Amino acid sequence: MRYELCASQEIPEGQSKAMKAGETKLVVYHLSDGFYATQARCPHVFASLGKGKILKDKCVQCPLHRAEFDIRTGEVVKWANFPPGVQMLNVVRGEKPLDTWPVSEENGQLYVEI
Ligand code: FES
Repeated sequence: MRYELCASQEIPEGQSKAMKAGETKLVVYHLSDGFYATQARCPHVFASLGKGKILKDKCVQCPLHRAEFDIRTGEVVKWANFPPGVQMLNVVRGEKPLDTWPVSEENGQLYVEI
């Protein structure tokens, strides 16, 4: 199903915004080649990726244990690695990619297909 999100100018390049599309919470990112959407919560222990950092026009870094995910594909680039000792938690919270959804831009508006 297709949902209208916001005006594309509300998300400057290099930034992201947490929002909702129907019942789905997501984060929309503006990278150099367009807009992308991922699930809003980190699959490790559910920190908000809307507060994450965008690294090298490619990854979002979770603000809690610094897992990194490829924004375009959702793949795990680096799993939770901070602070030292988090590996104990990783025994029960193993690697899991992000859900992603295609975002399109029409007449200055962003839409997501879920
Ligand atoms: S909650 Fe995101 S890395 Fe732990």
